[in-house]
Amino acid sequence: MYRVGIITASDKGSRGERADQSAGAIREIMAGLGWEVVSYRLVPDDPDRIKDALLAMADEEKLDLILTTGGTGLGPRDHTPEATKAVITKDVPGIAEVMRAESMKKTPRAMLSRAVAGVRGQTLIINLPGSPKAVRECLAAVLPALPHGLEILTGRGGECAEVRSEK
Ligand code: MTE
Repeated sequence: MYRVGIITASDKGSRGERADQSAGAIREIMAGLGWEVVSYRLVPDDPDRIKDALLAMADEEKLDLILTTGGTGLGPRDHTPEATKAVITKDVPGIAEVMRAESMKKTPRAMLSRAVAGVRGQTLIINLPGSPKAVRECLAAVLPALPHGLEILTGRGGECAEVRSEK
């Protein structure tokens, strides 16, 4: 079981003007995997607030996985990828590449998400777009590889299973 944090970046949500259905969608999917959502923050689309939330969850709470939702588009208040890039020490470009490629099969607007993914310490951080539909579609695209990625990152699974089987 992995410990998961959710960060929703939303000006409207943080003012209480919109219910956070995207976090709800993430919770549902994590529950299906048996992974525990132990931390949740709803912050405005402010780069420093997003960065602070990421640092608290990665460095203090030492979560295995942080899923952000929202703020990945082209709007003047969309800052989640920049806040994420400021805290990660390793890029994991394949995760965002697959999310965009699979999402393009659903909507051409998928190309407008600037979502990134990367590692800080032993925490994997993945940006998801803001809508519950996009959250579900993007998570479905990357879930097949996430357990293995987290096994290697956290050291709880030993070496790559494919390498093991070749020995
Ligand atoms: N990805 C998937 N899978 N499904 C979607 O409906 N919506 C797109 C895109 N990615 C979408 C998607 C849209 S309309 C936008 S504007 C961008 O994500 C950015 O969304 P955000 O600013 O809410 O993060």
